[in-house]
Amino acid sequence: GLRKKEVNVLCLGLDNSGKTTIINQLKPPNNSNHLGPLSSEWKHVSQTQAQDIVPTIGFNIEKFKTSSLSFTVFDMSGQGKYRNLWEHYYKDSHAIIFVVDSVDKLRMVVVKEELDTLLQHEDIRDKKIPVLFFANKMDLQDAMSSNKVTQMLCLDSIQDKPWHICASNAIKGDGLQEGLDWLQGHIK
Ligand code: GTP
Ligand code: MG
Repeated sequence: GLRKKEVNVLCLGLDNSGKTTIINQLKPPNNSNHLGPLSSEWKHVSQTQAQDIVPTIGFNIEKFKTSSLSFTVFDMSGQGKYRNLWEHYYKDSHAIIFVVDSVDKLRMVVVKEELDTLLQHEDIRDKKIPVLFFANKMDLQDAMSSNKVTQMLCLDSIQDKPWHICASNAIKGDGLQEGLDWLQGHIK
């Protein structure tokens, strides 16, 4: 039969933004044979959901399949001391998921710095890969809207790559499907 196209997705963003929680939501729940809360399109290759999520050290690799694609997701640590690992994976990436903690207004300037550094990197600059932003933690009272996050990160200035932003609640899974459907549709 036809081989599924293999794509590498980088999951980036500051520590505590919710990257691992989002990826964990894509896995089937524990103690069950049926699929996770997301559409049956996304199948995790081996594991079920973790019960508790701890800060990522370095990075983790997760594999998913949909009907047409085979995804390898690189769940990078967002801690300052590990952010220098990100760039080693830019060259081979086909898409980026960039997660923002919508409550963490104080660190939005740091998010903007990291995003600008990413988009200007020589291995990313000239690639037309899709960038999906999650304005995560939308369930919390002080969360900024996705419009506000768009404005604070000047996302409208991204001209050379398709990008999209979704408000999300990674704990319940809200917003994830919309974002991933968009991403899948824009991977070349
Ligand atoms: P690093 O691995 O350190 O880079 O962090 P991370 O981006 O992987 O964050 P992680 O998924 O570990 O989540 C950090 C904390 O935020 C955890 O306590 C999560 O339960 C919480 N969290 C993640 N997403 C949401 C959300 O949508 N809403 C709320 N209320 N909490 C969230
Ligand atoms: Mg993590």
